[in-house]
Amino acid sequence: AKPVNIAELRAMRDRGEKIASLTCYDASFAMVQDRAGVDFMLIGDSLGMVIHGGNTTTPVSVDDIVYHSRCVAPHLKRAFLVADLPFLSYATLDRALDSSQRLMQQGGAKMVKLEGGREQASIVEYLAVRGVPVCAHLGLQPQFVHKMGAFKVQGRDDAAAEAMIHDAHVLAEAGADMLLLECIPSELGRRITEASPVPVIGIGAGPHVDGQILVMHDILHISPMVTLGRTPRFVKNFMHGAADIESAFRAYVQDVKSGAYPAPVHCF
Ligand code: KIV
Ligand code: NA
Repeated sequence: AKPVNIAELRAMRDRGEKIASLTCYDASFAMVQDRAGVDFMLIGDSLGMVIHGGNTTTPVSVDDIVYHSRCVAPHLKRAFLVADLPFLSYATLDRALDSSQRLMQQGGAKMVKLEGGREQASIVEYLAVRGVPVCAHLGLQPQFVHKMGAFKVQGRDDAAAEAMIHDAHVLAEAGADMLLLECIPSELGRRITEASPVPVIGIGAGPHVDGQILVMHDILHISPMVTLGRTPRFVKNFMHGAADIESAFRAYVQDVKSGAYPAPVHCF
């Protein structure tokens, strides 16, 4: 199969084909996900939780993301690779450029992802004009855990919803090539997606976005959240009824493409 690139992700959006994505952290899972038809993989800073076993993503370093990117990147025949810029690794223009350079040149990522709204526009533009494709992550932003105290659904009231719609617009104008929306009402996901010039990927953002992403360990029902009994509403156990892990990945891809996932029970 032809490797997925940014143009193909845009084409999928244009022809109404849903984009199916999972996080990934090592070679074995990368090969299986790639075979199963996952369109892009994310080296998520969620590795701080599902790999390191921590409570938050904030201790994750650029070294960690580079390490896991190097485990995954060489094994992708088809899937596109996105890597997270971890906490404070894009706090200044210089740091953002240096961190992105490492994720792309050493890690093999084809796009970097950062958290934040319009306040990140100058960083996004600085990277974009230098050839770094950027995905901007809006809505619930796990790197803000220490400022927020606790996490909840974002963009629930009208003012917050309008602000997020504006953020999405500003970030796309600044050169973001993709948007990711986490934990927002489905209706807000629909409005942002309809207005967006670039593909919009959701996690707990409803069925109207251009694609879905989930943490791999969550859909395999082995994440620490499962053990702690704190799986988020949008998570579905794709091992249920699957003969093996590859079948679970295939079921996920198929359910995203068909629109069977997310069902109303997974949405806000
Ligand atoms: O780190 C991560 O896994 C993520 C996804 C949940 C979108 O950012
Ligand atoms: Na992340």
